Amino acid sequence: MDNLEIQTKIEQLRKDLNDHNYAYYVLNTPTISDYNFDILLKELEALEEQYPQFADSNSPTKRVGGDLTKKFQTQKHSSPMLSLANSYSQEEIIEWVARCQKILGESSEFVCELKYDGVAIAIQYRNGQLFQALTRGDGEKGEDVTINVRTIRSIPLTLKGDFPLNFEIRGEIFMPKKRFEELNKIRELQGEGLFANPRNTASGTLKMLDSREVASRGLDCYLYGIQGFQSSEKGHYQTVFLAKNWGFKVPDYAKRMIEKTTNIEGVMDFIDYWSHNKFHLPFEIDGVVLKVNDYAQQQLLGITAKSPRWAIAYKFKTERVETLLNSVSFQVGRTGAITPVANLAPVQLGGTTVKRASLHNADQIEKLDLCQGDVVLVEKGGEIIPKIVGVNTSLRKSQIRIPFIENCPQCNTLLIRKEGEAQHYCPNELGCPTQLKGKIMHFISRMALNIDGLGEETVELMFDKQLIKNPLDLYSLRFDQIISLDRMAEKSANNLLKSIELSKKIPFERVLFGMGIRYVGQTVAKKLAKAFQNIESLKDADLEQLLAVEEIGEKIAHSILNYFEQAHHIELIRGLQKEGLQFELEEKSKDSNKLEGKSCVISGTFETFSREEIKELIERNGGKLASSVSSKTDYLVAGSNIGPSKMQKATDLGVTLLSENQFIQLISQ
Ligand code: IVH
Repeated sequence: MDNLEIQTKIEQLRKDLNDHNYAYYVLNTPTISDYNFDILLKELEALEEQYPQFADSNSPTKRVGGDLTKKFQTQKHSSPMLSLANSYSQEEIIEWVARCQKILGESSEFVCELKYDGVAIAIQYRNGQLFQALTRGDGEKGEDVTINVRTIRSIPLTLKGDFPLNFEIRGEIFMPKKRFEELNKIRELQGEGLFANPRNTASGTLKMLDSREVASRGLDCYLYGIQGFQSSEKGHYQTVFLAKNWGFKVPDYAKRMIEKTTNIEGVMDFIDYWSHNKFHLPFEIDGVVLKVNDYAQQQLLGITAKSPRWAIAYKFKTERVETLLNSVSFQVGRTGAITPVANLAPVQLGGTTVKRASLHNADQIEKLDLCQGDVVLVEKGGEIIPKIVGVNTSLRKSQIRIPFIENCPQCNTLLIRKEGEAQHYCPNELGCPTQLKGKIMHFISRMALNIDGLGEETVELMFDKQLIKNPLDLYSLRFDQIISLDRMAEKSANNLLKSIELSKKIPFERVLFGMGIRYVGQTVAKKLAKAFQNIESLKDADLEQLLAVEEIGEKIAHSILNYFEQAHHIELIRGLQKEGLQFELEEKSKDSNKLEGKSCVISGTFETFSREEIKELIERNGGKLASSVSSKTDYLVAGSNIGPSKMQKATDLGVTLLSENQFIQLISQ
């Protein structure tokens, strides 16, 4: 193929992929199987790699992320991002409608929209290409999060149809409820703290420095306003639907997500409908937004200092109900953490029946001053996880405080609570049946060793029959032992054995995750595996080496050190190694051995590379990273604004100082 043919081929592939993407993420009507989509994407990836002269930052291959950002740049908005006047009462809405009519002196059309509960975004398009995406920031200036916005599949990278050459579209980025629940389920499994609500998660995700991670989080976006071009249409409603033809995801008329009305009854009907039906939406809304449709009328109404007079938000009140606290039970997690759970008299809240609510820890119970038989106030934090926010003390019948248990409800061991920690723990790691079973469940879970055909019930059964007491025992299970279990068919037994065998091929990072080290979730396991390559180096790592790994702080580092200090963990690892599990990352091509055996520290900021890139270069050339300068340090790679005391210390200890350029020279000689 000559250059022109290659370029044509690349462009055709991009167009096809964009069209399939649009059909899937915006129209919800897939036009190709996932498998065939991946084949096309891989073909494009290969061509782009082979012919970098045709690279394009808006290629569909950029949807998966990959680039790391040092820091987001601040940019000025094309026009200020205003906020909306809020109202919580229907009277205020009636007043707002009357005020609009009075100023306009004529009737007007109102557009009723959902108020998406996420993060505002302003996206500029130039010549049909996504150019820049800014967060709201302070309204005047926002952060440039373009790289992350590119990973959101429902936001077009390249427009279609008859789009204006330069314009800005504004909307809300959010995390669908289902994704939020999935993410939290994974975090729970990993023993990590749960995300509070979809809005915070969306906002945190959008500002992550690793765009690949953003791509995996499943953000979504609805657009609600277009700026900066003279629409041939004379109203907001019509323009929004015009943008649909350019490839944007806009609210669905048929689903009543957007409506036009000329009277207050229509407005009230919309408010009423969504305050009752919001729970059925796949994403969260915190109210509805009312806008005067006609652009000329909008201009007449004008804006105040902060918000337009032509729009208003009606916000739903957070739903709160009272119910009776029946009892408090205490759950034991796989790491031994004790979580108190309130058992409530069933009550309707936010579209579901709530029977239980987490009480988090002993401090929370104390803060609420919870007594037996109290009437408690329950709210849905972020509409999903119910929480107890208070007690109706006027209905209090008993002064008996809810005591926190002293012994493990499963094995009766005395609980411990470490200094500075909120959680109580059962320390009987080797004897507490709930912890042992929990550890096996975690080990076999999909993201870890993915051993199929072993549900909670079967694990329980095997545990009770003393066939397994830890993950290693799985590998000596025999067919006759499995088939002897209740309701176990021959085929299932064989499948289970097959699945156990297959788990020996699972890569190191997932085995590491499966070991269930406290605070070592999937992401941390990945970072550890990459930094240390194998279990031996990780086991021998000291605090400093652990802290040098990105995202590893004191808490995680100490938990890792503590894990490897325990002989039974080493015994488990040795056993699993004997069975043939992967405890080493597959050999990745190294750039060189120029830093082999050298301990490097980096400090300051760099010009050509980000800190993460420098770290990666050190590792790819055989070097080891440490967090601070010591007598063992060989090189201090010093960027600009490095502190003088650090420089002095390095000089005193005879550590070789390298500037960014010297470092690059050293590894590229
Ligand atoms: S219009 C001039 N429409 O609510 C104001 N905003 O303070 C332009 N929001 O963070 C905003 N859904 O991101 C508008 N359908 C909708 C919206 C919406 C959510 C957010 C917006 C901003 C806040 C308003």
